[in-house]
Amino acid sequence: MQKKIEYYITGMTDIQSLEVDTLKGLSSAPKYLLSKYFYDDAGSSIFQEITKLPEYYLTRSEQEILENQKDQITDAIISNNSRFDLLELGSGDGVKTKILLKQLVQKRSDFKYIPVDISSKANSDLVSDLHEELPSLEISPLTGDFFGLKNSGNFSGDTRKVILFLGSNIGNFTEPEIDLFFTQLYDLCRKGDKVLIGFDLKKSPDIIMNAYDDPSGLTRKFNLNHLARLNRELEADFNLSKFEHHTTYNPVSGYLKSYLISGETQTVTIKSLGHRFVFNRWEPIFMELSRKFDLPSIERIASAHGFSIEKHFTDQKNWFTDSLWVRT
Ligand code: SAH
Ligand code: AVI
Repeated sequence: MQKKIEYYITGMTDIQSLEVDTLKGLSSAPKYLLSKYFYDDAGSSIFQEITKLPEYYLTRSEQEILENQKDQITDAIISNNSRFDLLELGSGDGVKTKILLKQLVQKRSDFKYIPVDISSKANSDLVSDLHEELPSLEISPLTGDFFGLKNSGNFSGDTRKVILFLGSNIGNFTEPEIDLFFTQLYDLCRKGDKVLIGFDLKKSPDIIMNAYDDPSGLTRKFNLNHLARLNRELEADFNLSKFEHHTTYNPVSGYLKSYLISGETQTVTIKSLGHRFVFNRWEPIFMELSRKFDLPSIERIASAHGFSIEKHFTDQKNWFTDSLWVRT
């Protein structure tokens, strides 16, 4: 049974943040929406379907890494055998994380698992699942935006931390967001704490493009669900059939960008914002960045933010890396 989790990290409710950010994004030139709002209940389940698509190689690549190298990865996490908090940021359905959790429980390591997700449904489903699959696991979920985590007052204790940031969630950050995220992470951690981050690596542009523009149209549906969410929650009147899904990939920057493009000049009213927004014909809304990395850029990010790289765990094709960092 689904259980509602009441812990919030930030002061603003979900709906207030959605209103503020939507007003800002659609009043900007060019227009944008924030990809963290993809994950309402419908969006979270569409994302779960995406992870099973043959074209969406990211989940399978990371699953291969975790399955094949779970012993080395959990040894590195357990480290000196002292008790630790295992935080996971953007945990989602935790399907891949369970590989590590099972291994850690089997090794009888002393830890508490703290999944942090903006989607309360993803969090409560994960907690119910884990109660069944790993009844001995100590678990303490947090619902909210992980950017507020540092100021939430949840982590003042002495317990060492291991932080998981899997699935190439990091790829959804712009450069300033990467800076803010790792500055906060540095402050949250103490010397010697570890972070395991999933980075999707550069590869053939065709493979990347197919993963974000699948022939079954599921990724298109995932993007359009953001507009549907605004219709549901902010009393907007987006006509979804008037927007085209379009992606671009730049092999130099590694930026895969997703857009919804207005097929005609139209006005959309968002009642709860008391605003009307004009969309010109072929005007884009920037929906999401899904950045692809190379090893030198990962090294630059780590060293610029006070972390050193302990090890890269990669899949056989070298399409993805789970990079283990230590706070210096
Ligand atoms: N880590 C999982 C899920 C990835 S989907 C995997 O690898 O499959 C991205 C997840 O991050 C979603 O569950 C979404 O709700 C969550 N998320 C996105 N932005 C967030 C934010 N700013 N704060 C907290 N959670 C966020
Ligand atoms: C969660 N995040 C890493 C996914 C990605 O690949 O950028 C979200 C996604 N967007 C479209 N497909 C999947």
